[in-house]
Amino acid sequence: MPVPLTSGRLQWTDVPLPLRARLEDALGAPVTDTVTPAGGFGHQLAAALRLVSGRRVFVKAAPDDDSLTASNIHEAAVLEALPPGVPAPELLGIHHAAGWTAVVIAHLDGPHPDLSPASADAGQIWALLEELTSSPAPAPYAAAVSTTPSTAAALHGWDELLADPPVGLAPATRARLPQLAELEAAWPALAHGDRIVHGDLRADNMVRDHDRGVTFVDWAHATIGPACIDAASLAPQLILAGHAPADIAGLLHEHPNTASNPDTTTAFLAALTGHWHRNARKPAPPGAPGLRSYQHRAAAAGLGLLGYRLS
Ligand SMILES: Nc1ncnc2c1ncn2[C@@H]1O[C@H](COP(=O)(O)OP(=O)(O)OP(=O)(O)O)[C@@H](O)[C@H]1O
Ligand SMILES: [Mg+2]
Repeated sequence: MPVPLTSGRLQWTDVPLPLRARLEDALGAPVTDTVTPAGGFGHQLAAALRLVSGRRVFVKAAPDDDSLTASNIHEAAVLEALPPGVPAPELLGIHHAAGWTAVVIAHLDGPHPDLSPASADAGQIWALLEELTSSPAPAPYAAAVSTTPSTAAALHGWDELLADPPVGLAPATRARLPQLAELEAAWPALAHGDRIVHGDLRADNMVRDHDRGVTFVDWAHATIGPACIDAASLAPQLILAGHAPADIAGLLHEHPNTASNPDTTTAFLAALTGHWHRNARKPAPPGAPGLRSYQHRAAAAGLGLLGYRLS
């Protein structure tokens, strides 16, 4: 799948000198080179740093008054609490200086996975999701995510579209607005569960590391909830990558994460698709030029999947 281009991200040289010095001190060597990977829509620093020793680390950094710093601190707590065997990079440290915070994470080496039907990556990801949710989240993980409200549980959009239907809404979608809003309204009550949830699974939030295989990154939205959330989030991404919607709808009916909980899966898909549909119509936020067109395409993929699940 073409990964949305990164644009407008802060660069290493935008980070205040005291924090850069603190990081180089902690890492034990000067930074000689930085690479900002393609992918994602955020504006913060998210870069691979190469040290004079040749070692690489991955760093995310933002000013403390930027809401992304709270997300990065949440992600750091999650990375530290994830049990062994979860496909995630290790947390290497958190550093504060000059009113900024940087989170240092083990560097993964490789491309984003290929979610297209031609690749075996999607099959590996389904298997990883089954494994990730095969048992309840351990207590340290539950504690780490307990202080941050679940963004997955808060997803919605059809309610606002129903209250004020936008001009240009496809007639078939307009006709379904009451049903979609009702499904979405059921979601918050169904959003509870005891499994690890990554909460933002897209190709650009995974790296196919040369040694570890597909590894999930960007755990900023991690939470605890039903096993279906990540599997149902992955489904529209696979359609965007070229899979036939009917095939993916069939997979959702069969995969253990979603088959055991069809009503929860449908309610979540409705809330996620509503979120995309509503947000796609908003003005583009600064520094994220590809976001709205991605949301348009994702909303269409989600709605296509819902078509197979609604009578
Ligand atoms: N540990 C890592 N090693 C190597 N590359 C990584 C690592 N973590 C993330 N990346 C790459 O950097 C990009 C940005 O990282 P990440 O998604 O964590 O940042 P973000 O600012 O939270 O992104 P978003 O824009 O999705 O909110 C990812 O799309 C991925 O390509
Ligand atoms: Mg990301």
